[in-house]
Amino acid sequence: MAAIFFTFAIIKIFNFLVLKDYIDHQIFKTISKVADLMGVEAYVVGGYVRDSILNRPSVDIDIVVLGSGIEVARKVAKELDSKIQVKVFKNFGTAMFNFHESKDWDVEFVGARKESYRLDSRKPIVEDGSIEDDQKRRDFTINALAFSLNKSDFGRLLDPFNGVSDIKSKIIKTPLDPNITYSDDPLRMMRAIRFATQLNFTIEEKSFEAINQNAERIKIVSQERVMDELNKIILSSKPSIGFDLLDKSGLLKFIFPQLLELKGVDIRNGIGHKDNFYHTLEVLDNLAVHSNNLWLRWAALLHDIAKPATKRFVEGQGWTFHGHEFKGAKMVPKIFASLKLPMNEKMRFVQKMVLLHLRPIVLSQETVTDSAVRRLLFDAGDEVDDLMTLCEADITSKNETKVKRFLTNFKIVRQKLIEIEEKDNIRNWQPPVSGKIIMETFAIQPSRQVGVIKDAIRNAILDGDIANNFEDAFAFMLKKGDELGLTAISE
Ligand code: CTP
Repeated sequence: MAAIFFTFAIIKIFNFLVLKDYIDHQIFKTISKVADLMGVEAYVVGGYVRDSILNRPSVDIDIVVLGSGIEVARKVAKELDSKIQVKVFKNFGTAMFNFHESKDWDVEFVGARKESYRLDSRKPIVEDGSIEDDQKRRDFTINALAFSLNKSDFGRLLDPFNGVSDIKSKIIKTPLDPNITYSDDPLRMMRAIRFATQLNFTIEEKSFEAINQNAERIKIVSQERVMDELNKIILSSKPSIGFDLLDKSGLLKFIFPQLLELKGVDIRNGIGHKDNFYHTLEVLDNLAVHSNNLWLRWAALLHDIAKPATKRFVEGQGWTFHGHEFKGAKMVPKIFASLKLPMNEKMRFVQKMVLLHLRPIVLSQETVTDSAVRRLLFDAGDEVDDLMTLCEADITSKNETKVKRFLTNFKIVRQKLIEIEEKDNIRNWQPPVSGKIIMETFAIQPSRQVGVIKDAIRNAILDGDIANNFEDAFAFMLKKGDELGLTAISE
């Protein structure tokens, strides 16, 4: 018995010493000193404490003080370095600054608050509160932990809702009745799923039921905040966990209804097609192993988005989705706009990936010719490697022989891409004869004919009919112009 007690005590002391390491930094020591001088209590709360216990280094520090967070922030910044710029948000009673000490810390200060929400209004009544009041209005028990910073109990862990035990049992639970916590801020429903996905934790049943009941309230949250959480789910190591939970909780139909349309299997004459919702999630998970690029992951999510709209049953052939890559590419800007995702080069990248996502597969099914590879390089440009990664992730067949064959062919395509690029420099390539030269040679104005000649030169080079140099391209241009009834002016 004594031995068990002794071991338990040793583990506790060891944990305490290890956790103390996380606040063994100049920034925490300075906050401690300033708080003591000002006679206020100060705590590190939330994500930083959670991540310390999970042994995941974090640089975002949230400080709660029993008093004015803004005043403490100003004094701490002055003590650390008089050049630090403190950003103050008076309306929220918060202040923040960045500080470099071996890492770039982001530190935010706020006064402890007690909030109660009235049913008739979404505006909370905010009053000063104790540290426990503050902890209980946080989203999850694992995020309601605090380290004390005052000298008298520096490093003491305050865990009123058994957050450490929930971290150990890998469970997401709210400190209060989940209906209250989620209706205080409905984004927390997405956060529950985001943490469950990132940390591979389970959402407590009672909490998941509350999400189910309150799902529609996600509509009152700004689209930007919702997308921030969705992007964190997409960027996790196994995003399908999150999408499955979003679907089962009922949130997906409010935040991303287009994806749900991929769900389901139609069967005709005993022939079914694959469920494109689950296929898409599998592709996303496959891709997550090879790429951290958020926008390539979005391309995986949207690559088959037009399959429902292009689905046909053809007798003797089965289900077809002809042109889903073209229609899908057209749908991308509309989906990005409706989800309030950026309408810039990131959207255009996703659009390009969706448009081209079948090309390497088609290519790998045929003999891989130089001209087909040249065309792919020309169309995909610098994004050709991303395209190949997406296509490899798109192989989700259960037939091992088929998978092996595809992957071997993709290897050949990749090798050929390297060889042809080295030889012909096609990525970012422009044909050696420009539109300007064509117009000057035939003394013509910008017109359809210029485009026809330009396309013909480009295709002749890509198809390998002529060499990729000025002389051959110029001679070809003269021939093409002649066919069109144009006469070159003499030099
Ligand atoms: N918080 C909350 N409700 C929210 C958002 C945040 O209660 N809707 C609280 C939690 O205690 C959280 C802390 O504020 O730990 C800081 O929030 P944030 O920085 O958004 O998240 P982290 O928990 O730090 O996690 P991450 O850095 O992974 O986003």
